[in-house]
Amino acid sequence: MVETMALSPALGVEVTSVKSLLDDAVIGRCMEALKWRGVLLIRGLHLDDDEQLEFARRLGTVLAPGGKEIFKVSLDPSKNPAAEYLKGTFNWHIDDTTNDVPAKATMLTARHVAMTGGGTQFANTYAVWENMSAQERELYQGLRVVHSFEAAQRLLVGDPAEEDLAAWRTLATHESSLVWKRRDGRCSLVIGATADHIVGLEPDESRKLLDELLARATEERFCYTHDWQVGDLVIWDNTGILHRALPYDSSSERTLHRTTIAGEEPWL
Ligand SMILES: [Fe+2]
Repeated sequence: MVETMALSPALGVEVTSVKSLLDDAVIGRCMEALKWRGVLLIRGLHLDDDEQLEFARRLGTVLAPGGKEIFKVSLDPSKNPAAEYLKGTFNWHIDDTTNDVPAKATMLTARHVAMTGGGTQFANTYAVWENMSAQERELYQGLRVVHSFEAAQRLLVGDPAEEDLAAWRTLATHESSLVWKRRDGRCSLVIGATADHIVGLEPDESRKLLDELLARATEERFCYTHDWQVGDLVIWDNTGILHRALPYDSSSERTLHRTTIAGEEPWL
């Protein structure tokens, strides 16, 4: 029916020999592969927006942030009014950490690719948890982490002006467990650019721990880097997989069409 091949030892799967994307059995295999491998790639699909949405709707409820079910990821302000905001995507992050329920999955179709750079990197936080010792697990299990837009912005703006800080602070922050134990028993880490501080730790200690955990989760052995080809479809589990864009020229044509699937499980 379909064939699957690992993209890297720790995560990712490429699905090939897909004859009918909307076939129930194909959808079932894709969902299962996404659950266990975190990132799913199908090359050469060249879906248009309607086809992308039709497929996305089979995976769950499609979200429409800003009223749009398809968001054009581009650094060109004429294609994407939020181009400036996209600069934050060059740092490792998980989407929706300041919402109560994170998006379950994100889907991207490549329309144009960069001449150089512009890959998307993924890191598997389930895998880093599985690689921790019993003592480490015990240490981290009870910790809580506050996520904020401000923390992510501070990585981009070294010395923010008072008005920037005031604007960032109007946005809600969100506290969740550092280690997220799911209904299915699997555990992942809720870290990345929006991780502001660990509740109850001194600021320096908190920053050190968050930086250490991120460095560890993004070691090469837990990563997969996707080099885009036009027509690729990539879906990832936003709840446990960190992602970031690799640098590319802002005048580049790189355009990815994004669809987001609603989550079903709130942060703990
Ligand atoms: Fe993102």
